[in-house]
Amino acid sequence: MHKYAVLVSGRGSNLEAIINSVKKGIVPSMPSMVLTDNSSAKALEFAKKAGIETCFVDPKLHKGKKRMGDEIVRLLKAKGIDTICLAGFMRIIGKNVVEAFPRRIINIHPSLLPMFPGLEAQRQALDAGAAVSGCTVHFVDEGIDTGTIIEQSRVDVLKNDTVETLSARILEREHAVYPRVLASLLNGSLLS
Ligand code: GRF
Repeated sequence: MHKYAVLVSGRGSNLEAIINSVKKGIVPSMPSMVLTDNSSAKALEFAKKAGIETCFVDPKLHKGKKRMGDEIVRLLKAKGIDTICLAGFMRIIGKNVVEAFPRRIINIHPSLLPMFPGLEAQRQALDAGAAVSGCTVHFVDEGIDTGTIIEQSRVDVLKNDTVETLSARILEREHAVYPRVLASLLNGSLLS
């Protein structure tokens, strides 16, 4: 049975969707840990309410990508966790973490990669005049949103869309797609 951690930095709506999907039987188990680099992340409230262990890795105490990564690997391995689900974790994952969890780290990004990687993907889509955007679940490598794509879902960009309206429609799609992909990684039906 795979054990997984969800890594968060902020709002936590994808974490909430994962927790709800566990309750509905779509995802086979609750996260063994919710780990954050931001002690005031709202996501922690969802974790605590669901009785999930939380862990704050303080970037001020573990300076730099390598040290932060070493600490994350240490904490997760100590719990027997073998799978990582990034859900709004606002940090680039280091080589040490990628190598410690080969093909077992996934992320969701609010665009159809390889279009619009990095920050403010929805704004990038609007600025580019894209007619379609969406979300992408991908394996995580050392690059920024460059890992192998697992699943994508298209969302039309409407004529009067703002960053807020487009983001909200993409987010709704994320909440449906991400738990399903996570489930397939956990139950072995996704070849990793
Ligand atoms: C989502 O838009 C996700 O695609 C991106 O970060 C955002 C996280 O939102 N990687 P939330 O914290 O899950 O609400």
